[in-house]
This record gives sequence, structure tokens and C-alpha cells, in this order.
Amino acid sequence: MTQILEAIVGLQAGDEGKGKIVDERAVYAQEVNPDKRTVVVRYQGGTNAGHTLNVPYKGSTVKFVTHAAPSGITNGADIALGPNVAFNPEIFLSEVEEARRLFEYQGRILISERAGVLLDYHQKLDVFNEKNDIRNVGATGSGISPFYQDNARRVTRITFAEYISEQFPDKLKEALTIKKRELTEAEILTPHYEEELLVRHQPIRRALKKYSERLEYRLRKDYLEKGDNIIIEGAQGTMLDVDMGTIPDTTASHLLAPNAFASLGLPRKAFEIIGIEKVYPTRVGKGILPTLANDEFGRTVQQEAGEVGATTGRKRRVGYPDWVFIKYAAMLNDCDSIILTRVDNVQDKELKVCVGYSCNGETIKEVPLDLRGVLPIYNNKTYKWHLWHANEKSEKAWKANYIQYGFDNFSVDLQYFIADHETYMEQYPIIAVSIGKNRGDTVYRKS
Ligand code: IMP
Repeated sequence: MTQILEAIVGLQAGDEGKGKIVDERAVYAQEVNPDKRTVVVRYQGGTNAGHTLNVPYKGSTVKFVTHAAPSGITNGADIALGPNVAFNPEIFLSEVEEARRLFEYQGRILISERAGVLLDYHQKLDVFNEKNDIRNVGATGSGISPFYQDNARRVTRITFAEYISEQFPDKLKEALTIKKRELTEAEILTPHYEEELLVRHQPIRRALKKYSERLEYRLRKDYLEKGDNIIIEGAQGTMLDVDMGTIPDTTASHLLAPNAFASLGLPRKAFEIIGIEKVYPTRVGKGILPTLANDEFGRTVQQEAGEVGATTGRKRRVGYPDWVFIKYAAMLNDCDSIILTRVDNVQDKELKVCVGYSCNGETIKEVPLDLRGVLPIYNNKTYKWHLWHANEKSEKAWKANYIQYGFDNFSVDLQYFIADHETYMEQYPIIAVSIGKNRGDTVYRKS
């Protein structure tokens, strides 16, 4: 069977359903290549991500949310964390322990020796800045921006190799000394702060020590060159990319798929890059959503689809499909194909689609740097589809029917939507459509 080499990334503002697809692809990779290993790799971001996985467990389905660990942790695949990840050792270890308890997880764990370690003071600074700065972005409070600032400052970066070594107390002291001014202002430096951190991290460092790897070589030699499967898992989405997103309302990492290859030492040409697009975009925190649905559609989808942040519990704002942005995101990520998610959540609802922007009285088909004041131009056609086949009794039956027969069994309305999407995009085919939240509820194109 062919080796599965895929990168799965978000084309909107996060929460597109990447975790569910990564989990399914990892399961598939292990099924079709049972004699090969499968590794799921995260390459950026930290616990600001929340991947909600609804996976089979002892005859029923259990919801498992990962923040630090890649989505391979629920399906037995190996997991790896790259050098640009904001690595939170505490949360990572607790997720691994939980997966061991629940799923008897026994996969190999690889953590880049270069990964920076995100510590308590990053989180506290994040919360402090959000509260006290005159402008903020609605951060998740996971410490992401302070962490990447420390990485860029270089001398305040503590690598995973240093974290697990005997150098850690000295490195920590050095970082805290350099950062003293800002930590004092935020009242983080209590008299025993350093000591408490050291004590708290001692068992975690010991537990994680064996996982430190020169990851770029391991991925290439132990997986790629041996014909094993590699699934690269993105976090957040293109709108939140630090350079190409809606500046300044972005996260602090470089999240576009090509960045993954640069830091993991893997060849882009060997991989299929799959962009994940939720039929309708959503956004939490601050930041513009050009097609914001401030209407009945937006309200009902938010409620019925349970559009609530997995990390912060905040309501996600809902928008109408914005194909201008999707085309931009597919271009930047160098996508080979797209998987459309949550088509079940908008069945029987009328959808209008943004195919251009009105910017200072001018019609544009490109995404400008500043989206404020930009108005969506909607196609004169609307879409509405129904998924449930009246002649089928149970949800399980209608889902199974689609999964077996592929797109051809979809109602013509949904088929039109897919065809028009592809015509607009020109070069990014939709290879699958997700019709439910559980593992396996995804319909692949057969023809
Ligand atoms: P930060 O990444 O915690 O600094 O948050 C910056 C912005 O990105 C905020 O608006 C967050 O709500 C948003 N954000 C960060 N991670 C995610 C994610 O995984 N899904 C959706 N939004 C996110």
C-alpha cells in the first residue's frame, strides 16, 4: 500500500475540524499499512489549540479534547512535536497520562530537542497583558505571544534539551533575571517563584526526558525513508497566521503548511497538503470576520452546531461562506485539495456565498491587508441542501449510505455547491465532506 504523507491545515480562523480529520487519517493510515508506523506531528502553536475528538471507546463514543498533544494520541499512532511548537510540558504530560489511562496509549513520543518550553510565567504574562494593554487580541491566555517573544529574544528561550538537562535551574534563573522588569510589573515574581517552578517541574522533566529527539533526522530516517506514514497536523487557521492573517488580530506563530516542512526537515514535494474548510467560517476572540452573519442564520448555527471554543468556552461568531478568503488560504498553504466540514450543521439553511469584496468603492477579488470597512459581495445564487434521505430510518443508515456511495448520492443542491466551489477555486478539488462529528462520518469522493 502507498505510504500516507499528508499535511492537514486550517483555511479559516481555526476550529475547522482539523482534529477530527487528522484522527481519521491516522486511523486510515494504520489500517491500510498495518505493518508500518504512523506518526502525527504538530509543528506550531501550543495549548491555544483545542482539538475535540469524538472517538469510539468501550462500545460507545467518548469526547477527548487535546491541547498540547497531537491528535494521534487517541488512535495509537506515534506523536511528535516540532521545534516551533510552544511546548507546555505540564499539559502535554497530563494529556499523555489521560490517553494511557483511557485508551492504553502506547505510541512512540518524539519531542524536538529544539522545541521551546512554555512555562507558568508565559501564561501569567499573557493574561496580564490582555487585561492591561490598551489594545489586545482576545488571546486564549495560554502564554503564546509571550512565549514566541521569548523565542525571538533568543536568550530567554529555554529549549526542551535544556529543560530536561541539569542546566535547567541555571537557564531558568537566567531567563527570569533577563525578564525581571516585566515579571515584576506583572507581580509574577513572588519570593519563592523560581524555587516553586523548579519543584513543580522536577517530576515532569524526569518523565519527559526520554522523549527528546533530533526530530528532523528521526522523521526522515525512522519514518519517511522506511515507508512509514506521516501526518502533519496544523493548529489554528490561516486568518490567524502572524504574517498573513488579519494583523494584529492573529496568533503569534507561523502556521501555514510550507512552514511545517521548513522546521521538520521534510520534503514538501512528498506530501499532499489538505486544507480544511468549514462550510461557514467562525471566529473567537477579536478580529474581523468579513462575512459575519449578524442574523438568524448566524445565531441558529452558533447554537445548533454548538460553536463554542474548545479552549476558552467563548461563543464563536459565525459567518457566511467566504470563498475569496478560502482561495487566498489555499494559495498560501499550497494546498493540493480541500476537505469540507460541518455540511450537516447547515442543512435546510439558506447559504449565500461571498465571491468578492467591495473596498473603498472598488470590487476586488484579493484579500487586502486591512479588512476593516471591506464589504462582502455575495453571489446572486443561494444554496440549501438536505442530507437526510426520507426513506432511511436511522442516522446511522443515511450516513453509511453516503460513506459507501460517495458524493454521487448527495442531493443535487449539495452537489451544485461543491461544483460551484471548485469552479470558483479553479485548482483545489474537494476530496471529502464531513457529515458528522464522530470518527468515520466523512464521505470521500469516489469518482
Ligand atoms: P493566542 O493564540 O492565544 O494568542 O490568541 C490569539 C487569537 O487567536 C485569539 O483571538 C484566539 O481566540 C485565537 N485563537 C488561538 N488559537 C485558536 C484556535 O485553535 N482556534 C480558534 N481561535 C484561536
